[in-house]
Amino acid sequence: MTKRGDSGDDKMISTDSDAEGAPLPQGSSEFLIRHATLRQLQLFEAIVRLGSYTKAAEELFLTQPTVSLQMKKLADSVGLTLLEQVGRQTRPTEAGDALYQACRTIFRALGNLESKFADLKGLRAGKLKLGVITTAKYFAPEILGGFCKLYPGVEVSLKVSNRDRAIERILAYDDDLYILGAPPPDELDVEAYPFAPNPLVVMAARDHPLVGQKRIPFERIAREPFILREPGSGTRDTVVKLFEQHGFQPKVRLELGSNEAIKHAVVGGLGLAIQSLHTLTLEGVNGPVALLDVVGFPIPRQWYIVHPRNKDLSLVAKAFLEFALSNEPSVRDFMNRLLDEAGLKLPPASVSKA
Ligand code: PGA
Repeated sequence: MTKRGDSGDDKMISTDSDAEGAPLPQGSSEFLIRHATLRQLQLFEAIVRLGSYTKAAEELFLTQPTVSLQMKKLADSVGLTLLEQVGRQTRPTEAGDALYQACRTIFRALGNLESKFADLKGLRAGKLKLGVITTAKYFAPEILGGFCKLYPGVEVSLKVSNRDRAIERILAYDDDLYILGAPPPDELDVEAYPFAPNPLVVMAARDHPLVGQKRIPFERIAREPFILREPGSGTRDTVVKLFEQHGFQPKVRLELGSNEAIKHAVVGGLGLAIQSLHTLTLEGVNGPVALLDVVGFPIPRQWYIVHPRNKDLSLVAKAFLEFALSNEPSVRDFMNRLLDEAGLKLPPASVSKA
């Protein structure tokens, strides 16, 4: 039995025995309920998912000594070693892995409960957490803006990250909905709604000698220096695969973690880049970045709005999904307009699996 002291502080008086006075074994569910806290389980889940005490401490805004102390207490409650150090990685032991699976079930259930509570409050006061990949930031905030005008009471958060990070967030059930720039990997158990086109185009500085040429073969652009996104980026993966398919290696002049920085590097004459046409949303196709007419381009990719299949969607998330899908035609029209202005055409009714 655990009692709070009269002073109301957090001092606990603990007697580890059941109703008949028999001692409770460490690691038994009753023992865990009395000794382990949800916060400790949350910390433990983050350490295993991120493979590091430091990253977990950062994610949960705690100091590292606090994290270490809480993990020691949790291991004491279980009576087994839960985590081990393998090189610079922190990994779960067999017992740790079993606890990690249990944590994920518990947090998924709590997440579902949160959506249920939000539903009970209706759309007046719900929360919406959106996770989008880097390039979706060129249209997702506008859709979010329209949604917030309709439902001003809804609190929204938008996490922008590259594809690999977005997939990690899906696995950790961090957000309600995600926007990905290409189909989700098969091993993810998600519901995926195809959205507007996300064509990849070849960008060059306006004064580049290839600007204005028609039907440039891929072999020709493969001789130029290229600016690539960082590892973990979906755009980069597609570009690298494309070079492989053509039997070339990209001549990488520079790697940058931002679409905007890449456009500036292109304008600065550092090389060519292959990026989503959405990255030209604000300046259009007649600005300092020119589009090349290369055979096989634009690469017809597509956006997907995604959520884990086994996480219930809150009323707010459902409303946003519907709202976003109803906005699809305007995003699609805008892309088609930009392609028209650039004199480029998507191959009819084809969507790349890249
Ligand atoms: P990225 O993804 O922002 O990780 O490059 C974009 C995409 O896959 O289209």
